[in-house]
Amino acid sequence: MSASLKETFERCKKEGRNALVNFITAGYPTIEDTLPILKGMQNAGVDIIELGVPFSDPIADGPTIQAANNVALDNGITVSKCLELVKNARSEGITVPIILMGYYNPILKYGEEKMIKDSAESGANGYIVVDLPPEEAVKFRSTCTKYGLSYVPLVAPATTDERLKVLGGIADSFIYVVSRMGTTGASTEVSKGISELCARVRKFAGDTPLAVGFGVSNREHFLTVGASADGVVIGSKIITLIGQSKPGERGDTAFKFVKSILGEDYEAHAPKTFTNAPLSEFKDTKQVLEELHKYNPKFGDFGGQYVPEALHACLAELEKGFEDAVADPEFWNEFRSLYSYIGRPSSFHRAERLSEYAGGAQIWLKREDLNHTGSHKINNALSQVLIARRLGKTEIIAETGAGQHGVATATACAKFGLNCTVFMGAEDVRRQALNVFRMRILGAKVVAVTNGTQTLRDATSEAFRFWVSHLENTHYVVGSAIGPHPYPTLVRTFQSVIGQETKEQFKELNDGKLPNAVVACVGGGSNSTGMFSPFEKDTEVRMLGVEAGGDGLDTERHSATLTAGIPGVFHGVRTYVLQDDDGQVHDTHSVSAGLDYPGVGPELAFWKSTGRAEFVAATDAQALEGFKLLSQLEGIIPALESSHAIYGGVQLAKTMSKDQHIVINVSGRGDKDVQSVAEILPKLGDRIGWDLRFEDDPSK
Ligand SMILES: Cc1ncc(COP(=O)(O)O)c(C=O)c1O
Repeated sequence: MSASLKETFERCKKEGRNALVNFITAGYPTIEDTLPILKGMQNAGVDIIELGVPFSDPIADGPTIQAANNVALDNGITVSKCLELVKNARSEGITVPIILMGYYNPILKYGEEKMIKDSAESGANGYIVVDLPPEEAVKFRSTCTKYGLSYVPLVAPATTDERLKVLGGIADSFIYVVSRMGTTGASTEVSKGISELCARVRKFAGDTPLAVGFGVSNREHFLTVGASADGVVIGSKIITLIGQSKPGERGDTAFKFVKSILGEDYEAHAPKTFTNAPLSEFKDTKQVLEELHKYNPKFGDFGGQYVPEALHACLAELEKGFEDAVADPEFWNEFRSLYSYIGRPSSFHRAERLSEYAGGAQIWLKREDLNHTGSHKINNALSQVLIARRLGKTEIIAETGAGQHGVATATACAKFGLNCTVFMGAEDVRRQALNVFRMRILGAKVVAVTNGTQTLRDATSEAFRFWVSHLENTHYVVGSAIGPHPYPTLVRTFQSVIGQETKEQFKELNDGKLPNAVVACVGGGSNSTGMFSPFEKDTEVRMLGVEAGGDGLDTERHSATLTAGIPGVFHGVRTYVLQDDDGQVHDTHSVSAGLDYPGVGPELAFWKSTGRAEFVAATDAQALEGFKLLSQLEGIIPALESSHAIYGGVQLAKTMSKDQHIVINVSGRGDKDVQSVAEILPKLGDRIGWDLRFEDDPSK
């Protein structure tokens, strides 16, 4: 615990005022601006500085701070450079306490203990980690204590009493109270109910001071919020003002803003010298969070709930809804009654000419492409819409990459009369124009997400952000076996109809035997976990996942997360992540929008770690070869996503004998991809000997 943070709150209390905590993103608008901004803040009287360590995918933050993160990362800021900035600030006379605020993945990549140790050596006083679950926070806090730093927990309006007890118990200098359900961002008025919220938190926090943030923009807000709190945090507003000011004037802007909050007459009196000495009398208390989960949130070392505290309420409600539904035979009757609408059981048959072509194992196809709406995504979308109805939700949101999940969700909403909004990266909106129009025909609203890379990952972040601010009436239908618990388990549970049917259908046609291998493409993992999980315990059945190798694994342009990524935390879950040396999540590439994602489901990560499943990557050109093979040998045009599985399956069959059998999941049909294939054939056709050109008027 940092003595200076404690002293700061004590001093403010003595002076009869609130501590002002100001946030600024390190390296924004330029790396050179950070020091003058910190000086401007201190000279005007700020009490504590919260220095944001940028992260590529900040799901707790609104557009202002997210954009600042992106600018800082484009400027070349790194975790090490953030620590260097703190060090320089100390040598340049910044004596007020500095708290580092960031997301877990860059810390994990840097090394948790090393990061805390180096932060203490650079002169930081504490940490806020936005997406650390309480059980991990307890461990993190102990390491902070070892190096004399404070750990500042975040609590939100929906934080349960059990969690408040743990979070209040580990707070050693102050607690950050998030004033509203939603993301960071300036607003014109402060949230209602702050005094009740603070009173509830104090029941668990004892004398520990509370600082309230989110939505505070001016002196009036500062005073209103301050009436219930001990400190007030302001972030987005100052970032907006600094972003608007000219180079050379940013320190002055920070100075003027802090003055406008504290009052023109306020006399700054920063500590004379900087100290981050630990508080000697501090005792490390052990806190244990006992939350009951019917289904284990972890898959070995993977899984969990690495989410901002406000999102926890959404997940807890969904988890309960899912557990109740699964235990209710009525729910299953309702789900199964939709099989005729979907077209289940989907057909299953041997691919004779493809098997002959491979010259090895017999290849069988599971035809999810024949489902209503053209892919496996409908299984999951309908199940989640049924759960949403049980929870009394009227609004549905979803993210989509290729558009298949968006179309499936829009379809389920049309069938059950719910409003549907689909978030889609602006780049994917362009690539999948046909599916965008299909969603709109079905009555859905499609929101083009222009943040970040403008692809699936940004659409997912945006959907999480929206959900947390609209929990009351909204359910978020996640489209793959990704994200925090319960999503990976939920999605796999309803997609496992694929593997269950496959098992029965294969047995019936093969004297009760099992296939030797099952193969599926891997984006986030919904069709693969759906196909694999019923075979998990049949260890004689190989499970092969085929990822998107894009331009090749020797380039940066691919989406082969399990093949080339490393463990990390992304979109609320510990799993494999494509990331750089600084823990920033990579941009990805795949010819198929549905595989273009830098994370992957935690259950697949677990199967990789235990060796239960194998994973390979097929490049764009190889996927195109799979596309051509299935089209021309079997008369089935597969989705480009599924084409990866076709290619991988054929390669596997080649290594096996003719009396062996493999099943490939054809997860979707290729109608949506015909235009993309016409566009890429001139580029990639040469590599696979396929010289086909789209002609506007073939008669000429
Ligand atoms: C046809 C099809 N197959 C596969 C995928 C990949 O997703 P997942 O790995 O969740 O099955 C998608 C995603 O959009 C898809 O549309």
